[in-house]
Amino acid sequence: MSFTNKPNFILLFMIFSTLIFLAFSLDLSNVPAESPTLDREEPLSKGRKNVVIRNKVKNKEVLNVHCKSTKDDLGLVHIPWNDTWGFKFHVNLWRTTEYHCHFTWYKGGSHYFSIFKVSRDDTVIGKYPICTVCIWEVGSDDKNPMCRIPLFEKEKTYCFKWEDGP
Ligand SMILES: *[C@@H]1O[C@H](CO)[C@@H](O)[C@H](O)[C@H]1NC(C)=O
Repeated sequence: MSFTNKPNFILLFMIFSTLIFLAFSLDLSNVPAESPTLDREEPLSKGRKNVVIRNKVKNKEVLNVHCKSTKDDLGLVHIPWNDTWGFKFHVNLWRTTEYHCHFTWYKGGSHYFSIFKVSRDDTVIGKYPICTVCIWEVGSDDKNPMCRIPLFEKEKTYCFKWEDGP
């Protein structure tokens, strides 16, 4: 064998590039197989939240809700009695995501509430459990009209007052 054995070199090159191509195509074929895992809980979908609001006002009127974060204005929505409306978002990297809502209904007045805040709804060693689907019932009680309802039966309901300010 001599150094000028060109066909051998070309053959080696072809084998080598075929291997690279195979590795590359295997890698590509992995992409669709892997993407469902991205939709599961950990780790990339971490911070994904779903807030649901159910109208439970005592006089069975339509509940008008206007929710905003510093980034997002979800507009004014009208929720018929015992109906729900909801929205989805991600908690940002700095964990400062917060959604505030304004609630009004006929003869119900005008009220404010933070429908999502990290300190209450997304803190591991917090006073309340973390919710991923955060279901709120509005207006069934006069004193504590905002109730976070559990997704699973064994968990507890937590009720809060309006945050109307002084
Ligand atoms: C309110 O809605 C829930 C869930 O859809 C339903 O199970 C319940 O029967 C409704 N209540 C009334 C009083 O319509």
